[in-house]
Amino acid sequence: MSKGKLEKFSEISAMPHVFQNFNWKLPTLQNYKGEQVAMKGKWRSDFFKNDHPIVIELACGYGEYTMAIAERYPNLNVIGIDVKGNRIWRGAKFVQDKGLKNAAFVRTQIEQLLDCFEAEEVDEIWLTFPDPRKEHRRSRKRLTSARFLDLYRQILKKDGLVHLKTDSTLLYEYSLESLEENDCKIVVHYRDVYAANEKENLAAIDRNFDLATSVKTRYENIHAELGETIKYVRFKL
Ligand SMILES: C[S@@+](CC[C@H](N)C(=O)[O-])C[C@H]1O[C@@H](n2cnc3c(N)ncnc32)[C@H](O)[C@@H]1O
Repeated sequence: MSKGKLEKFSEISAMPHVFQNFNWKLPTLQNYKGEQVAMKGKWRSDFFKNDHPIVIELACGYGEYTMAIAERYPNLNVIGIDVKGNRIWRGAKFVQDKGLKNAAFVRTQIEQLLDCFEAEEVDEIWLTFPDPRKEHRRSRKRLTSARFLDLYRQILKKDGLVHLKTDSTLLYEYSLESLEENDCKIVVHYRDVYAANEKENLAAIDRNFDLATSVKTRYENIHAELGETIKYVRFKL
């Protein structure tokens, strides 16, 4: 029988690589000892204990990208972020079982990013199948709206890359417009990244194309089965 939510919450609370925010108004995170810790600006010195680049996966769900990056690239540090502890549990358990030391998970709202990272602390951001927020009145909540781009600008190092993977045509088209409007530099975008990979062997070009074409998330699988093409946008802020 699969584990219930409460059991998963209890398990992640005892994991040294999971940090949780229990109060949106407080800038601190709670660690596995139940202590309030301020990780902002301290991820490399206090947790990873190295100077490697930091990649974050926002709306990570189970954290498929966090798991893949941690396992394939020991010289990268990676942090999966999602508000749902029962989803994070999957990735956190994988990291624990594999004994990986270059991955962490943060259970918090993405809106709290500035409480978690200082300027230029993050090298790269992955947005993996974020909610498209179909209704227009909710477009402010899309992770490529001006409001979120501004947050990313405040933590991402200069020229750092942001990657968006989505099945949603609405979110893809909205994102391209929003990126133009907010003076971002679109590096590449594909309406069907797998078709592009077949044609141009993108995976051989660099690590991020390889990740984009080889790691499939839970939501990606659901939507691909429904016949959606998978879109990919790479941009700078
Ligand atoms: C459609 S799911 C995608 C999950 C995963 N990346 C995947 O591809 O399977 C969107 C995720 O975003 C998370 N989420 C939505 N709004 C959020 C917010 N404001 N802060 C943190 N996580 C959020 C949800 O909990 C959910 O896990």
